[in-house]
Amino acid sequence: MSCKTVAILTSGGDAPGMNAAIRAIVRLSITKGIRTLGVRRGYGGLINKDIFEMSIRTVSEIIERGGTILYTTRSPEFYTPEGTEKAVKNCKDLGINTVIVLGGEGSINGAKKLADNGINCICIPCTIDNDVACSENSIGFDTAVNTAMSMIDKIRDTAQAHDRCSVVEVMGKKCGNIALHVGIAVGATAILIPECRFDFNEDVIDKINFTQKMGKRHFIIIVAEGLKIANKVSDEIFKKTGIETRTTILGYVQRGGSPSAADRVLASKMGCYAVELIDRGIFNQVVAVKDNKIINSDLSVSVEAKRIFDIESYKKSLEISI
Ligand code: F6P
Repeated sequence: MSCKTVAILTSGGDAPGMNAAIRAIVRLSITKGIRTLGVRRGYGGLINKDIFEMSIRTVSEIIERGGTILYTTRSPEFYTPEGTEKAVKNCKDLGINTVIVLGGEGSINGAKKLADNGINCICIPCTIDNDVACSENSIGFDTAVNTAMSMIDKIRDTAQAHDRCSVVEVMGKKCGNIALHVGIAVGATAILIPECRFDFNEDVIDKINFTQKMGKRHFIIIVAEGLKIANKVSDEIFKKTGIETRTTILGYVQRGGSPSAADRVLASKMGCYAVELIDRGIFNQVVAVKDNKIINSDLSVSVEAKRIFDIESYKKSLEISI
């Protein structure tokens, strides 16, 4: 029997596929003789000792479920010195050797706090935003992009029927990855994202006028939520082109639902990889994707990493949206 005890927590915004990752971690850990605890409601659960023993069967029937069976919060208390201290003390009292953190950038910063205070951590990027700098992909992104795409396919039907322009705001915090991928997938006329400067008249109005002259009668404009301009964009399009324009803020629908096959596979692989690292005694890492392979990246390096944005895809996508 191994003397290792791991605790799993999900933190920040939930992401479809978190459950599939939890399932993989619990099943492989127990198979390897590692005791596995579940922490409810993220770092808050570490502070409140809301922690329970997990078994092979506590993770049955969850691979297909969105959300997280462990619940999640954004816990400001954890980031205070007193909060961190309580969480660390509770980990020590319960004999927790390693905390596996499933979440996005903020949650990974939280793991660094634990690691700096002597608690081993392994992080798995789970966020629909796909904004974790050290990883090319995060659990939940594929599902969110597919959900947004299928919603916009429906919006297109009605935009087409009315010869309208539809401005659609998609999630992603300050990151334009969802907007970029969805925009390409739906053949948007323009994609507005925080990472790339744009000239509204040139990139939106002139583009609409130009494609209208070529026979296009309905238009889809994707706006990343981080810009906070969707309603303004709609108003300006109507004022400057006379085309009837409607705004849709897709919102939380993008975060829910059953994870896609790609997210279930990624989550299962990343979950297993995390347990393998622990089994080999390798700690304070982020499980990441690089060149389509699962790798591990040092936690301290990962929190300092700068996100690289795929500008080339962005430019190409706009060349063909005519
Ligand atoms: O990080 C995921 C995300 O859904 C972002 O796209 C969005 O900006 C944010 O969370 C919303 O946060 P909350 O759930 O706190 O409203």
